[in-house]
Amino acid sequence: MQDIIKPPVVDRRLSIAPMLDWTDRHCRYFLRQLSRHVLLYTEMVTTGALLHRDPERFLDYHPDEHPLALQLGGSEPGELARCTRLAGEWDYDEINLNVGCPSDRVQSGRFGACLMAEPALVAECVSAMRESTRRPVTVKHRIGIDERDSYDELSRFVETVADAGCRTFIVHARKAWLQGLSPKENREVPPLRHETIYRLKADFPELEIIINGGILGLDEVVRHLEQVDGAMIGRAAYHDPWLLAAADRRIFGDSAGPSSPRAVVLEMQSYVEQELARGSRLHHITRHMLGLFQGVPGARAWRRHLSEQANRPGAGWQTLLDAMAHIDDRSRPHRPFLRPLVSRKIIPHFICDKAFNRVTRRNAMTLMKTSNPWSLLDEFNREFSRMLPGFADDDSRVVGSNWAPAVDIKEEDDRFVIRADIPGVSADDIDISMEKGVLTISGERKHEAKEDKEGYHRIERSFGTFMRRFSLPENVDADKISASSKDGVVEVSLPKAVKQEDQPKKITVKNG
Ligand SMILES: Cc1cc2nc3c(=O)[nH]c(=O)nc-3n(C[C@H](O)[C@H](O)[C@H](O)COP(=O)(O)O)c2cc1C
Repeated sequence: MQDIIKPPVVDRRLSIAPMLDWTDRHCRYFLRQLSRHVLLYTEMVTTGALLHRDPERFLDYHPDEHPLALQLGGSEPGELARCTRLAGEWDYDEINLNVGCPSDRVQSGRFGACLMAEPALVAECVSAMRESTRRPVTVKHRIGIDERDSYDELSRFVETVADAGCRTFIVHARKAWLQGLSPKENREVPPLRHETIYRLKADFPELEIIINGGILGLDEVVRHLEQVDGAMIGRAAYHDPWLLAAADRRIFGDSAGPSSPRAVVLEMQSYVEQELARGSRLHHITRHMLGLFQGVPGARAWRRHLSEQANRPGAGWQTLLDAMAHIDDRSRPHRPFLRPLVSRKIIPHFICDKAFNRVTRRNAMTLMKTSNPWSLLDEFNREFSRMLPGFADDDSRVVGSNWAPAVDIKEEDDRFVIRADIPGVSADDIDISMEKGVLTISGERKHEAKEDKEGYHRIERSFGTFMRRFSLPENVDADKISASSKDGVVEVSLPKAVKQEDQPKKITVKNG
């Protein structure tokens, strides 16, 4: 039976990885409160479970979870075709085949990562699935398995499966060792090889290639999007879901997004109450929310409260409110941090140490093995910037602009100062505006069109549009913001006040 509706167009610029036991329907509903656009994946569901047990248990979900992909595990084309039909009946936006899971259980069922050794069988599975639906059928796989990890082998796999009509490949940038490593070790020990996936995209430009593995934040996503079609984040988004808060704005160009972690919790109220009324346990919902306040004073008490109380009989919405009472985010609802430390003038030393400790602790096991030190540096930067008060988190680079000027941000007794390096752009070509607490610096550095590219040994300078955005601290007086430009440095002065206007405001840049 073919679906009679039109196939959906799925935007895969950013997705959340399928994660067994983690990305269940409660988790997905919660993540949806952080981003309206990010593509969500179910945990892997085996064909056996769907066909021989009650499919409702595995397939039901909340309508708000769209866009939503179902991941199937199996290798028998007929069974996969029947499950694909079920996915259509349940209105999933995409059906994905797992060719990346290395667990023993999956191998004994002859599916998951071991299928990388059988591209013809995967092609047959994809064909059967595609004949059963008009929705996109995608494949998630590794860059190799065991000794079969050459680029030739990988590209042969992709070519064979693409010949069966698969247009989208989600590639985990690690090979898997089928013997000797646990699934967890197989997500950490084999080195990350993002450049292999870039090469795949260059060799198969007509295919949609999504990169996965070790991506820790939106800055990295933005960088990957310059090379491939989309990025998939797994563990980082689960442990630190707030990193998705800026995803709609930065990746999908939608200004909507949650104003604070607290607002995300409050959005969950009716869902929690409905689920409890249906007999769900509070703990099954809140276990996915433990990381929401990462880095905010009171986060540990929030986690402890939920871990101890949400399991108890009678636990309900009030339990969540009680847990949230431990959070001290009054100084700043969005990215609150370390305000008291700033006033005691023990920044930046302390913050540096703390950020460094957090990152190295998290990566203690992988620090020596990683092939991608930049991802650690990136994580350090993110950790560091989220600890700064006010201009928190470097979500300020905007997808779509060609480059982003470097900035210094400084707090003085009576004002904040942003200095941005924008050489070669006249003041008239720089726009600074302020709306709803967000300061935007944008403009364009025009290409030097007349110069011939021949004769250049190196071209490093960026041209085209630039943009950076900063959420302002609450105590900035929007009416008094001024800006000047001198010797290629634009200085924006943001005097402090008690009150912050919400009105849009244009600031003229004077020639210095
Ligand atoms: C707890 C857990 C369960 C996972 N389950 C699945 C799964 O069901 N299907 C799948 O394709 N990958 C699964 N993965 C792998 C992730 O989808 C992803 O490929 C991997 O974690 C690498 O991405 P990351 O570094 O962003 O986490 C799982 C990962 C974790 C941590």
